[in-house]
Amino acid sequence: MSDWFTPDVIASAPGRVNLIGEHIDFSQGFVLPFAIEDRTFARIRKREDREIRIRSAQRPDRLISTSLDQLLPRGDGDWERYVLGVIWALDIQSGVDIEIDGHVPLGAGLSSSAALECAVALALNELLASGHSHKELALLAQKAENDYVGVPCGIMDQSVSLMAKSGSALLLDCRDLDTRLVPFDLAASGLQLLVIDTQVQHALIDGGYAQRRQSCESVVAKLDIASLRDLSLSALESAKDQITVEEYKRAHHAVTEIARVLKAVDALTDKDFMTLGQLMNASHHSLRDDYEVSCPELNCAVDTAISHGAIGARMVGGGFGGSAIALADQSKIAEIEDAIKVAFASAGFHAPRFFTSLPSDGARIEPLT
Ligand code: GLA
Repeated sequence: MSDWFTPDVIASAPGRVNLIGEHIDFSQGFVLPFAIEDRTFARIRKREDREIRIRSAQRPDRLISTSLDQLLPRGDGDWERYVLGVIWALDIQSGVDIEIDGHVPLGAGLSSSAALECAVALALNELLASGHSHKELALLAQKAENDYVGVPCGIMDQSVSLMAKSGSALLLDCRDLDTRLVPFDLAASGLQLLVIDTQVQHALIDGGYAQRRQSCESVVAKLDIASLRDLSLSALESAKDQITVEEYKRAHHAVTEIARVLKAVDALTDKDFMTLGQLMNASHHSLRDDYEVSCPELNCAVDTAISHGAIGARMVGGGFGGSAIALADQSKIAEIEDAIKVAFASAGFHAPRFFTSLPSDGARIEPLT
């Protein structure tokens, strides 16, 4: 990296792929993400004043300067708002120099923003010996994104970026942030998880995410329950006339998706990948038809993967673009990639990008090299 300054602390945090459990973290549901190998690094040095200087290794010509006394929730700015939001949420009282080196693909639905927040949060926690647990840091990073940046995200991305472990998916109970590691070794079964980035830029801040979240909250209020986690499918059917058709569809997604996550954990534990694949497909259909957050490119990626032999496929993350995942035999991956490239070209879509990743460790302090 650069010679801008010698850091006191270096921390890194990964992006994530969610295996299943989409758009249910804010309904106190269960989710099953894993951390990817791509990470964002935060190099931090303490200052003796109250100034903040931020620079990105990817854009070294742009130095952002402000001070602790000028932090403004929902103010203008670019990616640096995520860094400033974390400084604000952690209530830091000492100036800092920060250099960010981001290696999580941007806008691909792989949570580059959570990786950024969590790398900065862990680095500040270490630098100032604040003593927050990883669970507390996840909540503070979410607060930064919700209240400072103004994106109404749930708690999944920050939790997995901080608490994931290599070789496992992380079963996260979004009610109390309890976690359980679920061994996730596809290679031993001759399988691979392909990530297909549609190159359609998604932006949670644009409103579709918030509207759906509001529909879920409206159902909770109308049915006088604590969360959609507390709603059974039969109770939802009986309450159909108390909510709008749209609210019914959103809640139907949430209730069925929470059940699918628990079934997916059993399938993974039993190495029953056929069942896991079917649950992924059902999740995609629910996100496409009930929750309505898919898009033509995501549907094309999923449908093409399935018709070329994938065991299961689904869109991941917030939706409206970003990435899909396909679970397939290793021997089929090249054919699936080629078929998706052809299908995208003939539909007139941008060429997709492909990634694969092993489940990796969450945020960590890096050696000072
Ligand atoms: C985004 C949000 C998460 C979660 C997912 C959908 O990634 O940041 O909190 O709601 O969308 O599952």
